[in-house]
Amino acid sequence: MSPRRPKKASQLATALIEHNSDAIALVDEAGTVLYANPAASRILGLPIADIVNSNLFRWVHDADLQTMRANFEKTLAKPRAPIPNAFRMRHNDGTWRHIESVGVNWLDTPGIRGIIINYRDVTESRRSEEALREGEARYRQLTEQATDIIYNCDLDGRFTFVNPTATRLTKFSEQELLGRHFLSLVRGDHRQRVAEFYERQRREYIRSTYFEFPAIAKDGTEVWVGQNVQIVEEQGRAVGVQAIARDITQRLALEDQLRQAQKMEAIGRLAGGVAHDFNNVLTAILGSADLLSMMLDRDDPKWAEADAIKRAADRGAALTRQLLAFSRPQRAAATIVDLAAVVGSMEPMLRRLVLEKIAIRVTVSRSPLPVRADEASLNQIVLNLIINARDAMPEGGTATIDMGEAELGDPLAATLGLMPGRYAGVSVSDTGEGIPPDILRHVFEPFFTTKPADKGTGLGLSIVYGIVKGLGGTIEVQSEPGHGATFTIYVPLVGT
Ligand SMILES: Nc1ncnc2c1ncn2[C@@H]1O[C@H](COP(=O)(O)OP(=O)(O)O)[C@@H](O)[C@H]1O
Ligand SMILES: [Mg+2]
Repeated sequence: MSPRRPKKASQLATALIEHNSDAIALVDEAGTVLYANPAASRILGLPIADIVNSNLFRWVHDADLQTMRANFEKTLAKPRAPIPNAFRMRHNDGTWRHIESVGVNWLDTPGIRGIIINYRDVTESRRSEEALREGEARYRQLTEQATDIIYNCDLDGRFTFVNPTATRLTKFSEQELLGRHFLSLVRGDHRQRVAEFYERQRREYIRSTYFEFPAIAKDGTEVWVGQNVQIVEEQGRAVGVQAIARDITQRLALEDQLRQAQKMEAIGRLAGGVAHDFNNVLTAILGSADLLSMMLDRDDPKWAEADAIKRAADRGAALTRQLLAFSRPQRAAATIVDLAAVVGSMEPMLRRLVLEKIAIRVTVSRSPLPVRADEASLNQIVLNLIINARDAMPEGGTATIDMGEAELGDPLAATLGLMPGRYAGVSVSDTGEGIPPDILRHVFEPFFTTKPADKGTGLGLSIVYGIVKGLGGTIEVQSEPGHGATFTIYVPLVGT
């Protein structure tokens, strides 16, 4: 035991030192330990007896020795000044412990004559700090790589964080977004609703909500997003929200397509039912009118009336037949016809149908296009499409019929609602007024027409639709207002 070991420490002081959770050591100017408390023994995993009289530096990590010595010199040079230090010490179990210390030079003080070092093991708190940093890095990586938009807003609704997907989809830079109110990205007519929703979530403290709205990107493009919004709390108080949002434009389009198909089916069934009953009524009218005209003399003025009834009922019957064609797609015809030959042979008839202001170009496919269908149905398809093309070009223009083989693989087949395979494709294009998007989605519906009552029935395309569906094919339309329209039908090719 060192002669300089304080002898007259009071009982209280001894108790305080011995029970201190921080390590306390007294060393001489060479770093030799004169005294160490139990906490110091715990940090090194050595009995106090093995610590005292050893040099403190022997447990210090090589990499930290230089700074450690420099700080020690400083301590020696500045009596009474607390000099902080951080270094690693080797525990008896071989692990390195991170130490933070404060040394004070009391060498000139009688009764102490040493350097008092207070130190503690900060390995655990270091480790949790590191874990926190790692967690943050992981979180950052996650938000940066996420294909979803992730953003935070303050309670006001101003962006405080946006991830790269947010900037990519909105086309605003991060700087432009931060501080901006999220409502400014919501399409004008939805702003009120979204604002109320957001407000309500905070007012009623709903932890998590989901809602959808159209957002407008910097370049004016529209993106429908669905977002989950979560209240962010700090110490039990709401400080803002975090949202995870996704571009749902595509999903909405698919849902729309499905709804449209279901609607067509429902309307078709309804029209079919009405047409069927109405046909029975017409049959009765026709029969009675027939009988009546037989009973009457040709010169009788009543005969002309009976004949007028007959003709009107005939027209009605023709109309209901068309409706039935739409609603009850014919079972696949037993005959195999060459679609190329059928359409090609219609050319002279189509020319007579349209005025000379309209040019008709038919490109007949060189190879035959065998399909399972009846000629009358194919005629009806082309006729209806050409009549529409004619109506769309009152000032004249060109109607073009193209055809050929189409090998439809996925995903094109799937988007057309067809099985992958080989199809005969026929397209009818015009250079007319085109079809605006809000009308485009309705053109195949029965009775949908934009033409005056005496000109259009709205049945043409629905009949075409019914026929091609019945043939196992489909019809597709592409149009840009002012740039004409192209209707394309696909009918399965029959292997030869
Ligand atoms: N080639 C086309 N160009 C522009 N609009 C078209 C064309 N074909 C069809 N349409 C639109 O689709 C609607 C429905 O067509 P259709 O079912 O044939 O009925 P209708 O010709 O009796 O109006 C038309 O009223 C028209 O608005
Ligand atoms: Mg028509």
